[in-house]
Amino acid sequence: MKLARQLEKLGTETAFAVSAAAEQWGAKGNKIYPFHLGDINIATPDNIVEAAKKAIADGYTGYCPGAGIPQLRAAIARDVGAKRRLSYSAENVSIQPGGKPVIGKFLAAVMNRGDEVLYPNPGYPIYESQIEFQGGIAIPYGYLETPMGFDLDLDAIRSAITSNTRVLIYNNFQNPNGAQSSPQEMEQLAELAIRHDLWVLSDEAYFEIQYSGQPDTIVSLPGMQERSVILYTCSKRFAMTGWRLGAAIGPQMVIEVFNKLNTNIESCTTHFIQRAMVDAIEGDTSGPDAIIDELRRRRDAAVDGLNAIDGISISSPNSTFYLFPNVTTIMQRKGLREVNQLMDEALTATNVSFCTRNHFGRVTEGEKEHYIRFAYSGIGVEDIVEGMAKLKGYFDK
Ligand SMILES: Cc1ncc(COP(=O)(O)O)c(C=O)c1O
Repeated sequence: MKLARQLEKLGTETAFAVSAAAEQWGAKGNKIYPFHLGDINIATPDNIVEAAKKAIADGYTGYCPGAGIPQLRAAIARDVGAKRRLSYSAENVSIQPGGKPVIGKFLAAVMNRGDEVLYPNPGYPIYESQIEFQGGIAIPYGYLETPMGFDLDLDAIRSAITSNTRVLIYNNFQNPNGAQSSPQEMEQLAELAIRHDLWVLSDEAYFEIQYSGQPDTIVSLPGMQERSVILYTCSKRFAMTGWRLGAAIGPQMVIEVFNKLNTNIESCTTHFIQRAMVDAIEGDTSGPDAIIDELRRRRDAAVDGLNAIDGISISSPNSTFYLFPNVTTIMQRKGLREVNQLMDEALTATNVSFCTRNHFGRVTEGEKEHYIRFAYSGIGVEDIVEGMAKLKGYFDK
């Protein structure tokens, strides 16, 4: 028996292999310092947990509309619109079991086989996987390191656009590098999308994970709303990664395709979870605020810990819960050529577990610098301080 040939094109999240290695090492009695997965070890706010229990007790345990319950669609339309100075209605919202399904369904809705899709690399690995699995041509674009973080490589994006380019995937508040576009950078990207008539997926998984100021979106720029779909998720904002609740927000024409795909694939997203979220989306912000406060403490501890290491210098990102230090100097000091070797050796030498650039899309030709990624969403301040001190002991040698 043979499986489908198309499966050769299907990628995955190789970060899960890092979890497995960390677990194995932990099972030998080692205390792991888990910086590898973007999961959150903070509890979902009580009001949401209680609302879910009540929704089950009230009997919201059956099927519901494939597009999502109207009350939640309307609440997300109001909330997403208000925070972005945009006008959306319930018809612009398709409820999803998490943010991730938006990626594959968006491509199914707008990409033809053979179309070129621009996507960030390093970036969330599911973009590359879904583009290629669905028969598109994945065209990576990168970032330029600056003293303040990372800028989009706009020249590379410009020169990668051809008459065959149909879609741009853009992740402001970026995983893995924490990049946040300036207004000018976003304007230039929007100008390219409009000039070349591209569909845009604006992955806003970390829109609400901000340590100061108000976030912006490319979708608010003139000419962008009609060509853009927003990936929205409750995973990070409400520490609800395992609940699986998200949404696609965009032009009704595309959202209707999402709704049809929902009916084909999962029928609907869990009914009682949708009920529980109707008030939480627009309601009490004390739960999400406490999550941000905790993440800020962790960020500050992790940034200080990394900057104490000889050869590492990073700025403090204003968004996401990721740090992406350049470790080229450390690699040279240790005589290593492969960044995953550094990861493997660090795990056994220090019990600190992290991902590398290689877990975020295929490494492209000409990349000379080496990077590793720390997520501080799944590890408390005390362990961050302890783990970073161990890492310093090993990296400085
Ligand atoms: C950039 C980005 N987009 C989308 C997602 C999907 O998140 P979820 O499916 O949990 O909503 C993630 C998760 O880590 C992410 O980092």
